[in-house]
Amino acid sequence: MCQFSNYPSTASETSLLLPYYRHTGLYTKIDGLKSQLSMLHTDILVLLYHFAKHSKGAVLEIGSYLGGATVAMGYGIIDSAQSTPFVTIEPGGSYPHHPWLPTYDILTDLKSNLKKWQIDAYVSLESGNSRDEAVVNSVKQKFENKGIGLLCIDADGEINEDFTIYSHLLNPGAYLVVDDYFCGELKAVPTRNAIDALVDNKKIECLGIYGWGTWVGRVLSS
Ligand SMILES: C[S@@+](CC[C@H](N)C(=O)[O-])C[C@H]1O[C@@H](n2cnc3c(N)ncnc32)[C@H](O)[C@@H]1O
Repeated sequence: MCQFSNYPSTASETSLLLPYYRHTGLYTKIDGLKSQLSMLHTDILVLLYHFAKHSKGAVLEIGSYLGGATVAMGYGIIDSAQSTPFVTIEPGGSYPHHPWLPTYDILTDLKSNLKKWQIDAYVSLESGNSRDEAVVNSVKQKFENKGIGLLCIDADGEINEDFTIYSHLLNPGAYLVVDDYFCGELKAVPTRNAIDALVDNKKIECLGIYGWGTWVGRVLSS
């Protein structure tokens, strides 16, 4: 039987979240956010909202860009009324030729968006690469006691490295959302290889591929 659950444990339960939210004002709100701020599909932003709202642990995002997914998860945390620790990691740079979200300064625009969308008080920004020693140490320090309940990776495709560094902080059952499992870019290959190997080794399980090719799953208890 496919039942609505705040903590979906099968692909069919996870897929049910989408039609559920499509019948709510939240979907429209997140859809507006998508068109102004995010490269991700609205369905993914809605799933991130849901997982952040019900997260059993801290939330970590790797690759915020202009903050679309960051704001969606921030909304989830605000609606949960829990004091969920939330860190987003972004090295910055520029992307002036992006077709609908161009920027000459990612970090400046990201900070201004977090303020504009009123989630700056709920998220801590680590300016750097997810593998920088200072960033890794800072995240470890912030999350050590609580562990991670939701990890969202939409960065450079180095899933193996990021998972190796942060996996010990992941709580059993933590949700994992990884973009570019399927896409036309080169980073889809290492992303898919890394995810498939983690599934084969029973570290994580798949709850479906949504949006334009974003992998959604969770961490298995070992
Ligand atoms: C595809 S964009 C993220 C889009 C975002 N999720 C959204 O909702 O629109 C990828 C971002 O990851 C950042 N990035 C790339 N490698 C990274 C790394 N190792 N650590 C953190 N961020 C990284 C890039 O600077 C870029 O801003």
